[in-house]
Amino acid sequence: MMPAPFRKIRVKASLFVLLLLIATTLTLYVVTIRIMKEHILNEVLKRAESMSRSIAIVAGFSSLSQDIIAPDTFVFQNKDLNPDFEYVAIVGPNDEILVHSDMKRVGTTFVPSGGILIRRDAEGTLIKEVLGKTGRLFEITSPIVFMKKNLGSVVLVVNRSMLTGAQKKAQKTIVLIFASILLVGITGSLLLSSYLTRPIQELSSGVEELKEGKRSHPLRVYSKDELGRLTESFNEMTALITAQRDQLNKYAGDLEEAYVSTVRVLAAAIDARDDYTLGHSTRVAQISVQMGKEIGLGRNELEELEIACLFHDVGKIKIPDSILLKKGKLEPAERKEMMRHTEYGTEILSKASSLAKYIPAVRHHHEWYDGTGYPDGLSGDKIPLQAAIMAVADVFDAMTSGRPYREAHTVEDTVREMRGQSGIQFRPDLMDAFLRSLEKLRLGIHNGGRGTT
Ligand SMILES: [Fe+2]
Repeated sequence: MMPAPFRKIRVKASLFVLLLLIATTLTLYVVTIRIMKEHILNEVLKRAESMSRSIAIVAGFSSLSQDIIAPDTFVFQNKDLNPDFEYVAIVGPNDEILVHSDMKRVGTTFVPSGGILIRRDAEGTLIKEVLGKTGRLFEITSPIVFMKKNLGSVVLVVNRSMLTGAQKKAQKTIVLIFASILLVGITGSLLLSSYLTRPIQELSSGVEELKEGKRSHPLRVYSKDELGRLTESFNEMTALITAQRDQLNKYAGDLEEAYVSTVRVLAAAIDARDDYTLGHSTRVAQISVQMGKEIGLGRNELEELEIACLFHDVGKIKIPDSILLKKGKLEPAERKEMMRHTEYGTEILSKASSLAKYIPAVRHHHEWYDGTGYPDGLSGDKIPLQAAIMAVADVFDAMTSGRPYREAHTVEDTVREMRGQSGIQFRPDLMDAFLRSLEKLRLGIHNGGRGTT
C-alpha cells in the first residue's frame, strides 16, 4: 500500500498541474474571446465603412447628372441586403435628408447624434458608437465629395444584434474547443502525475518494506534518469542489507544453537550427576509436549516448551553435591537451598537474551495453583502456561522414580495422588490433559531412577 506522505505528493503534483492548466486555458480563452470579438467588430465595421463609401461615391456621381434615382435605389438595395443596417441615409450639405431607407424621414432635417468617436480615416469617414432606441449602434458617416466640393454625407447605422449573434456563435465554438483542450489536458496531467510519482511511490514502499525486514527483491527501474539511478542505488543497497541481514541471522542462529547445545549438555550432565535423575529432563519434556498437543499448542510453542523442559532444572548446577546427592531427607536449610535452583536457573538463562523466553517456565515450574508454591507464590492463571504444564509432568516423573529412602510409586498410586492435588497444586484443565497424555504415551512404571523435582 502506498504510504500517506507519497499519496500527498501525487495529489499535490496533480493539483499543481491542474491549476496551471486551468489558469492557462482560462487566460487563453479570455484572450481568444477578446481577439475574436474585436476581429468580428472590425469586419462588420469595415463592411459598413466600405458600403458607406460606395454609396457616397455613387451619390457624388449622381449629383453631376442630378439623378437622385441611382443613389436612392442603391440605398434601398443595401438596406435590404444587410438586415443589420438600422438605416441608410443621404444627407445634403444643409443637413436635409435627401434619401432615407425610412421614406417618412425624407425631407426632414438630419440631427447629428453625439456618441463616442471610434475612428476617423484619411478620407473623412467617421465611425461613432451611439446609443439609439434599439440599444448601442455604430454610426458611419462618409462625406460625399465631388470635384473637391462637399455635397453632403452618407449616414449608415449598424445595429449590434448581428454582431452579437456572430460573436455568440463564435464563442460557442471556442468554448467547445477549450473544453476539449481542458479535458485532454486534465487526463494527460493525471496520467503524467501518475507516471512521474509511481517510481517514487514504489521507492517509498520499498524503503518501508526494507525497514520492516520484508523486502529482498529489487525494484523495477522505469527510466535512465536521476530517479532510475536512485532506484538502482536502492536495489544495490537492498541486496547488501539483505545479504548482511541473512549473515547476521545465520550467526545469531548458530550462536543460539551453540548455546542451546551447551545448556542441553549441562542439563543432561545435571541429570547424570547420579543415576536417580538420569533422563529426568527428557521424560518431563516428552510428557509436557504431549500435554501441549492435547491443549492445542502450535508447532513453535511445542518446540519452545520442549527446550524449556530440558532447561527446567539447569539451576541445580549451583547446588552442591552434599545437598543434591544426599542419601536421605534434606534438612530445612538444605531444602531451602535446593529450592533456589529455580532462581539459579533464571540467572543462567538471563545471560543470553535469546534464552530469556525460557525464564518464566524455568522460574515458576514449582509454583502451585493455590499460590503456595515457590519461588514467587504465583497462583491460578498468573502461573505461566509452560511452567504449569511442566509442574504436572515434573511431579509425575519424580513420584514414579525411586529414591534411596523410598520406593518408586506406581503409576496408579501416583495418578490417584495427583488427582487429589488438582485445583490445589495443579491446574485442573492441565491435569485432564495430563491424564489423556498418559494414555497416549502408554508410560509404564520406571523404577530405578531417583526422582528430584
Ligand atoms: Fe525442579
